[in-house]
Amino acid sequence: MQRMDDTLRALEAADQLRSLRVVPGSGGAFFEAGRRVLNFASNDYLGLARHPRLVEAGMAALRQWGCGATASRLICGHLACHAELEADLADWMRTEAALVFGSGYLTNLGLLSSLAGRRGRVFADRLNHASLVDGLRITGTKVQRYRHADWEDLARRLECAGGADLIVTDAVFSMDGDCAPLRAIEGLARRHGAGLIVDEAHALGVLGPTGCGQCEALGLPPEAALRVGTLSKALGGYGGFVACDGRTRDYLVNHARSLIYSTGLSPVCVAAAREAIALIREAAGAMGVELMRRAHWFAKALRANGCPAGEPSSPIIPVVLGSNRRAVMVSKGLERHGIWAPPIRPPTVPVGTARLRLSITLDHSESDLERAAEVIGRVLKRDVEGI
Ligand SMILES: Cc1ncc(COP(=O)(O)O)c(C=O)c1O
Repeated sequence: MQRMDDTLRALEAADQLRSLRVVPGSGGAFFEAGRRVLNFASNDYLGLARHPRLVEAGMAALRQWGCGATASRLICGHLACHAELEADLADWMRTEAALVFGSGYLTNLGLLSSLAGRRGRVFADRLNHASLVDGLRITGTKVQRYRHADWEDLARRLECAGGADLIVTDAVFSMDGDCAPLRAIEGLARRHGAGLIVDEAHALGVLGPTGCGQCEALGLPPEAALRVGTLSKALGGYGGFVACDGRTRDYLVNHARSLIYSTGLSPVCVAAAREAIALIREAAGAMGVELMRRAHWFAKALRANGCPAGEPSSPIIPVVLGSNRRAVMVSKGLERHGIWAPPIRPPTVPVGTARLRLSITLDHSESDLERAAEVIGRVLKRDVEGI
């Protein structure tokens, strides 16, 4: 108990104590104490979470299947709707098969712990998402973490090691919004005979001519990598999956503990995901294009207001502030002016790079973005001037 108190006190002293904030509504904005608060923290990039077609599909699934899958997929929790979703995903991702897990986190845990053996030579980007890190940790394997998005560093390490079994990277990095140099990494994986796992969590629905993600955007063939996706960001619901060949799917069904020992995804989420995929495919990439247009527009507006925002490669725009204290103060200042952008601090990001992570969604109108850029610029200026 004393240890808990000490830990919490230390976190508080370092401006690193996290707590759960009740958010009164989802979407690009919510109402609180009679005023409209713009939400820049959501991963619902395409604004699908409350789309009437997803809501209807979820309600129909509730009526047909009930609330839960009632057991592990391997027992009696593999319902017809799960098989249909996996067929939809495989068709969309142009792979032989797909396997759905309870979440993106559980997908990475199951996939990596199944594929990276204890003595495997595994290479991973230093800023990979925690779920990829944790999936590898479980195996106890010694991972070489190459410099962020630096394929030359990866190439050097591969040469030194004399080969590799597995290379693991995010497609779009969740806290920086930048993209991995996937073309070069894929070439290295091929040259060294290594498997490649690409987590498309923040690229799915957003990048690529049909919204399949960054691999598709770069024209990489579907078999170039095992691609992980989540149903809980641009697809607006919950769940995760890996798009793969049939043999890998069979192997995972027999090895991935996060699939085997956890209840199947709720039919409500399954049905919502199928509808989201249908919507994205009907739009033929147009939603992602419009989202990126707004992201570029917003970054330009931020810069015009004196805020250091680079050209975005995704709907995620980081504003790095440095210290935890500064990130907390700026976030509080924004909240007072009706903007919700929580401070992102270590261990989510490296020490000394606390930041605002601004994510744009199709729920944000141009006037919302204009107001936000102006307010963010004003609050940052006051912060710099110490007012
Ligand atoms: C890159 C990446 N992979 C996986 C996940 C986990 O996905 P989920 O939220 O569906 O568990 C996240 C979530 O933030 C992520 O950013």
